[in-house]
Amino acid sequence: MSRVVVTGRIPDAAIEKLRAEHEVDAWQGPESIGREELLRRVAGADAIVSLLTERIDAELLDAAGPQLKAVANVAVGYDNIDVPACTGRGIVATNTPGVLTEATADIAFGLILMATRRLGEGERLIRAGQAWKWGMFFLLGSSLQGKTLGVVGMGGIGQATARRAKAFGMDIVYQSRSEIDPAIAAELGARRVDLDELLTVSDVVSLHCPYGAATHHLIGAEQLAAMKSSTYLVNTARGPIVDEAALAAALRDGVIAGAGLDVFEHEPQVHPELLDLENVTLVPHLGSATVETRTAMAVLAADNALAVLRGERPPTPID
Ligand code: GLV
Repeated sequence: MSRVVVTGRIPDAAIEKLRAEHEVDAWQGPESIGREELLRRVAGADAIVSLLTERIDAELLDAAGPQLKAVANVAVGYDNIDVPACTGRGIVATNTPGVLTEATADIAFGLILMATRRLGEGERLIRAGQAWKWGMFFLLGSSLQGKTLGVVGMGGIGQATARRAKAFGMDIVYQSRSEIDPAIAAELGARRVDLDELLTVSDVVSLHCPYGAATHHLIGAEQLAAMKSSTYLVNTARGPIVDEAALAAALRDGVIAGAGLDVFEHEPQVHPELLDLENVTLVPHLGSATVETRTAMAVLAADNALAVLRGERPPTPID
């Protein structure tokens, strides 16, 4: 029997799977586990099931000890994990692709609708008790039919967002490290372009690329200036892909029309200037936040950890 440390609360279905084979030490506190507590608890762990709020770096891997075999992240993004540090120590790192694709695309599309149709503004207005009545020019937004969606990062979530956009009558362009399956590109009528072209032709830009050194501030002042002043930016990927101060300035100065953000550069902090702007919708990292999706993510992470501990190839290793 091995020892599995779980760094935060996860659905029971996953805990039960782990407990059936191993001793499980799962953090149950209402707040995130503190760094010192985490470093103490991982000592002697054979596997760590991690949440994206915990940094899994060389210091933590060393605190765990040489018996550590697996780090199973309960997230598709793994910028919280130092993967080379894992690989260098013979530790298998895994993530949870696939199971959160549709839920995250739903939130991306929800933000597209909220931004372009000014739903957040309308909701805030009613809750603030402001007088209103139907008016010909009251809170007019922008239609999606016939407009162009630019998808940055055309993996599973980008494709699922594009599929929703097609159903809303939008044209699709995308920027991606690699060409997608031609059958999917044809089904979506999606055209691959470079980022510069995507920024200039899109009416909505939706970010779905992973975060790393190559995508840090991929969207900054220069890229925002390249967009049309009628364009909306949506980010459901990772906050630091966007230079948040530059975005706040662009929204304030009318460089772009609006934005919808599910993720933030210094999460959970939100740039204070964004809080004062009406043309941005802010939601607290809810991309995968459905009961079904979070359960599937946690169970997949458990399956990954269990497979490594059995000496098998895990279902979804990173790279
Ligand atoms: C959520 O942000 C994830 O990466 O799964």
